[in-house]
Formats: sequence, structure tokens, C-alpha cells
Amino acid sequence: MNRKDHLEIEKKIAAEKALTYISSGMIVGLGTGTTAKYFIELLGERVQKGLDITAVPTSDKTASLARELGIKIDTNPRRIIDVDVDGADEIDLNGNMIKGGGGALWRERVVASNSNMVIIIADHTKLVDKLGNFPVPIEISKFMVNSTVRRLKSLSGDCSLRDGGRFITDNGNLIVDCSFRHLNNPAETYRLLKSVPGVIDVGIFLNIATLAILGQVDLSLKTLTFKKNIRA
Ligand code: 5RP
Repeated sequence: MNRKDHLEIEKKIAAEKALTYISSGMIVGLGTGTTAKYFIELLGERVQKGLDITAVPTSDKTASLARELGIKIDTNPRRIIDVDVDGADEIDLNGNMIKGGGGALWRERVVASNSNMVIIIADHTKLVDKLGNFPVPIEISKFMVNSTVRRLKSLSGDCSLRDGGRFITDNGNLIVDCSFRHLNNPAETYRLLKSVPGVIDVGIFLNIATLAILGQVDLSLKTLTFKKNIRA
């Protein structure tokens, strides 16, 4: 089996494990990306067999897949989400993450921040000692984009508009990917980037994950639990 196929199996077994946290009556946050897709497909199978849940999708793509599979959608639930299941681009041993590789970071944060439990599913390559190898996705407004990008560049140096500005988020905004190589102080970097006018959200997620389920090379699962779950 080649490496890519192996990683896909790691993602799928992590998604299968996440499914064991879901039961009827729950409101479930649905993430975005290739790993979240496995979870949504498995959830769809369970719904077709009678599982009764309502889902809050983090992107239009996730919403349309969920609808196709017969999963009920509510984008404005009246109570807190029970469990959110999403992927990550990088996660460290404290549960801090870089997210937004799929461009859905803002809705992903809103859903995760309004969930009792946030389960991150991923293959083993996503676990890192230090965040920052993956460029930080930043959602910015189209209005005065040149000025916003200029200010972001002054903070990171290596920033570029995703797809040369052709990538448009579900919220009608743009994504800038800023490369830092190592985030020595992710909280400070988050604060600095978020303070730039025109920035809507920054793909550094701190103190949000409650559990990570990571597929391993030997196809076992590594589970990490994170004590702090302050919505920041
Ligand atoms: C989308 C995300 C995804 O969770 C992240 O990019 C991981 O995706 P994948 O599971 O395809 O590796 O943050 O905005």
C-alpha cells in the first residue's frame, strides 16, 4: 500500500472511533476536509439506519454532503452543540492547532467554540512538536485587500493570497496563507494577526480541542485528551 492510501486508512479509523461518541438526540458539529468527510459518510450510514441527530455544518461543501446523506441540518441551533468532529492541519500535544487548510476556519471556530466537546480526527502526520510548519490560513475581507496583505506581510514576511486571490470562502472573503516555520508563541502570533484591521479570523486554534483521535502507522489509534477547554 502506498503512503497516501495508508494515511487515508488512518483518517478513516479515527473517524470510526469518533462516531462512538455520537448518540441519538445530539446536535453534532460537522467539520470540513478529507478527514471530516470520512466521519460525515459514516454518520450518514448510521442516520440511514435510524440514528436521530441534527448537524451544524462548517462549510457549504460539508452541508451539501450531509444533505445528500439524509442528515438533518440546522445552521442556527437554539442550544449548545453536543459534539463537534473536525480535522486539523497541525495539532500539538497541548491540543493547539493550525486549521483552515480547506478555507473553512471561521465557521469551524464558531462551531467548535459553541460545542461541549471538540473531537479532532487526523492521521499521525498532523501531530507536531511545534506548530508552524503549515502556513497559517487567515480569512480577510476583500475590502482594501492590498492594505491588509501589506500589514500581514510586515508581520510574517511570507504571506500570499490563496490561488492568487481566486479562492473565495463560503463567507465571500479571501484567504491569505502566512508562513512562519515555527510558532514560538502561538497565542501572541494569534493576537498580532487578529489585530490587523480587515482580518476576520486566524487559523490558530488555542484551547478549543477536548480530544484528539489520531490514526497511527500500525493502524492503532492515539488518543489525547486536553484538560483546558476555555473558549478562546
Ligand atoms: C478546513 C480544515 C481542515 O480540518 C484541515 O484542513 C484538515 O483537512 P484534512 O482532513 O483534509 O487534512 O481546517 O478548513
